[in-house]
Amino acid sequence: MRVLILPDARAGGRAVADIVARVVQEAGSAGERPVLGLATGSSPLPAYRELIRRHRTEGLSFAGVEAYLLDEYVGLPAAHPQAYRQVIRRELTDALDIDPSAVHGPDGTHPDPATAAAEYERALTKAGPVAVQLLGIGTNGHIGFNEPGSSLRSPTRVTTLTERTRSDNARFFRSLAAVPRRVITQGLETICRAEHLVLIAAGAAKADAVAAAVEGPLTASCPASVLQWHPRATVVLDEPAAAGLRHGEHYRYAAALDLG
Ligand code: GLP
Repeated sequence: MRVLILPDARAGGRAVADIVARVVQEAGSAGERPVLGLATGSSPLPAYRELIRRHRTEGLSFAGVEAYLLDEYVGLPAAHPQAYRQVIRRELTDALDIDPSAVHGPDGTHPDPATAAAEYERALTKAGPVAVQLLGIGTNGHIGFNEPGSSLRSPTRVTTLTERTRSDNARFFRSLAAVPRRVITQGLETICRAEHLVLIAAGAAKADAVAAAVEGPLTASCPASVLQWHPRATVVLDEPAAAGLRHGEHYRYAAALDLG
């Protein structure tokens, strides 16, 4: 696992944008259609702003890209501003030259969410592997919407949010009562099929979850710890999010040598 501790979230955004841009450019010059795994939430926003900037000012093109979202609320109308397919359009893809029909997410409006989850798993298997999967982390260590207790081998499925996640996400809704209880999420095994996992975290509220994910045991109690098991995982942190790490000095030293 590569751990990058950067001075602030903007620097983190640039580091993540470098990873994504390289994949997009290399696939583009090989005539391939790269598959990107996108995350919602506030953590990836600096990276998205930087990618939009590079698209506008440096000609970075997303024309052939296929994008797959991690997760979706069950039961929100498709046009709801917090439906993740709306969020990703607003925060990223509407500002890029990506074909809107190439942006995919689980169908949270399907009358049978379990069927929608199984269809999404099949679609991902067919389109994959995802070249880079971006991830945020919940304060309880969740990735996607895989809450503590999620099987490390879970597929895309319907699951139930913890009350902690509902209250963390209530800031995006009118009230806590408006936050859905059920979601469809890529499973931990689904996520781990991506070639490169890139987890982004900023702020002191994430420090405990980051420490558990990076240096704690590999356990379903901290779903993000599954990154320890992945052959290619990068964790991009700002200083406050890295504050709970025991081996922070070594990560800084190793990253400085990589860059040198
Ligand atoms: C939500 C999303 C996750 C995200 C997490 C953290 O629950 N489903 O994918 O990583 O929140 O969100 P934020 O980045 O806003 O802290």
